[in-house]
Amino acid sequence: MAETFYVTTPIYYVNDLPHIGHAYTTVAADVLARYYRYASRDVFFLTGTDEHGQKVEKAAEAAGETPIQLADRVVERFKNLWVRLNISNDDFIRTTQERHIKAASHFFETVQKGGDIYLGMYEDWYCTPCESFWTEQQLADGKCPDCGREVHKLQEESYFFKMSAYQERLLDYLKTSPTFVRPETRYNELVSFVKGGLKDLSISRTTFSWGIPVPGNPKHVIYVWFDALLNYISAIGYPDDMDRFNHYWPADVHLIGKDILRFHAVYWPTFLMSAGLEPPKQVFAHGWWTIEGKKMSKSLRNVVDPYRLVDVYGVDPLRYFLLREVPFGQDGDYSDQAMAHRINSDLANDLGNLLNRSVGMLVKYFDGKLEEPSDLTDLETEIRELTQDIYEEVATAFKDIAFHQALTAIWRLVGRLNKYVDETAPWQLAKDPEKRNRLMTVMATLFEGIRHVSQMVYPFMPESARKMREQLLLPPIDENTSRLDADRAWGQIPLGQAITRKPPLFPRVETDI
Ligand code: MSP
Repeated sequence: MAETFYVTTPIYYVNDLPHIGHAYTTVAADVLARYYRYASRDVFFLTGTDEHGQKVEKAAEAAGETPIQLADRVVERFKNLWVRLNISNDDFIRTTQERHIKAASHFFETVQKGGDIYLGMYEDWYCTPCESFWTEQQLADGKCPDCGREVHKLQEESYFFKMSAYQERLLDYLKTSPTFVRPETRYNELVSFVKGGLKDLSISRTTFSWGIPVPGNPKHVIYVWFDALLNYISAIGYPDDMDRFNHYWPADVHLIGKDILRFHAVYWPTFLMSAGLEPPKQVFAHGWWTIEGKKMSKSLRNVVDPYRLVDVYGVDPLRYFLLREVPFGQDGDYSDQAMAHRINSDLANDLGNLLNRSVGMLVKYFDGKLEEPSDLTDLETEIRELTQDIYEEVATAFKDIAFHQALTAIWRLVGRLNKYVDETAPWQLAKDPEKRNRLMTVMATLFEGIRHVSQMVYPFMPESARKMREQLLLPPIDENTSRLDADRAWGQIPLGQAITRKPPLFPRVETDI
């Protein structure tokens, strides 16, 4: 049976419209999912929406709607965006769905029966927008350390989860799973945080009602983070279909932004341990996008709308930019100029031109028809071997979730193929009738190389890969039937059929938009 690969995005709050940050994580997860499906893994890719909690309740009130009306409206914006961005998620979970509510109630009861939940009184500083309690020491100048806004003292009866009891077990897990948190710097920060001590966690609220009722005490609703994290298991069948659950769990990787690492790498594994379930294998925290050097915020009116980026630049250029521009895990800056520059240099010049000039030559010299190469030199061997090396580099980059490294490696092949054209100078060979075989060998090698490039870029730019393959008279990659290990073998470019010219794959972008 195929090895499984379970990848998730955070579930997004429905009190906000989707922005570039949401698109970033979801595109990254999609690229992983597509790569591993093509590599014959049994992939499950989950995304969804986080619909409970005070923030959503307040946003609905402000919009003159009920919370579920707000959620039903905003969820469509997310779902449509994922269609636009060519996202191949296998499921979409909403925390207001029956399956999730049932799972969350069951999980709460399980942890309670195990003796890890007790009723107590909670009092501390509370930040309403972040739905977080803070201790005096954690406050930054008396304000919320996360968002900088006002906090107020709040006291309420609350159920507590005995997180303090799991400090040692979590530290052990961190020790035995050194790649549990990535990038490495985040892992180190997290270990120090846990060593600093874990306190019990308040996991219910009585000050508002938009949430999942605590089983047996509906005066309380389950704290939104306790509820939300459970999406990762409710979506795969917990607790009704434990066969399916056990098939995919533990998740291979939760992709998240750096701001929500503590929830995923401290709270979440301890909840799971208490319920007798395994923690996820990895939590990868990516960086944040600033916009032309500034933090993205509604008040600055600089929120980047992914719908606009798709309209202006196209889906694949956006997907490419997001994963190429910034090493995954680090912060990055968005500007229209940076986007245009990437598209023009990497996509239009390097990759687009390679395809375009190759087709132009083949049409001119051989009416678009390739034949078996027969006049091989060391150059062709070198290119064949480089191609295989790059598949390996790409595989390693995927293991490390280092998208920029995978793309840099692929572009080395693109660059090598462009250089090969310059080195072999087909326009010179074409002048000499005795060099027809050599010219055909160059063409066949070039097109075979481009075939491999189409396979390598596929997870990042599925539509462009399809177009490239259409031009090469190859079937599109079908994740259910295509196999990367078979497609990797050298020498599968179709021969004898006429390849024709097509409009450029990546039109250049004007830099002054
Ligand atoms: N609902 C919670 C997640 C629950 S997961 C069990 C949540 N939602 S969110 O909609 O506020 O944020 C979702 C993600 O967007 C987070 O991973 C956050 O890091 C990310 N980003 C928000 N702004 C961002 C940028 N400017 N840049 C990159 N990612 C950003 O948190």
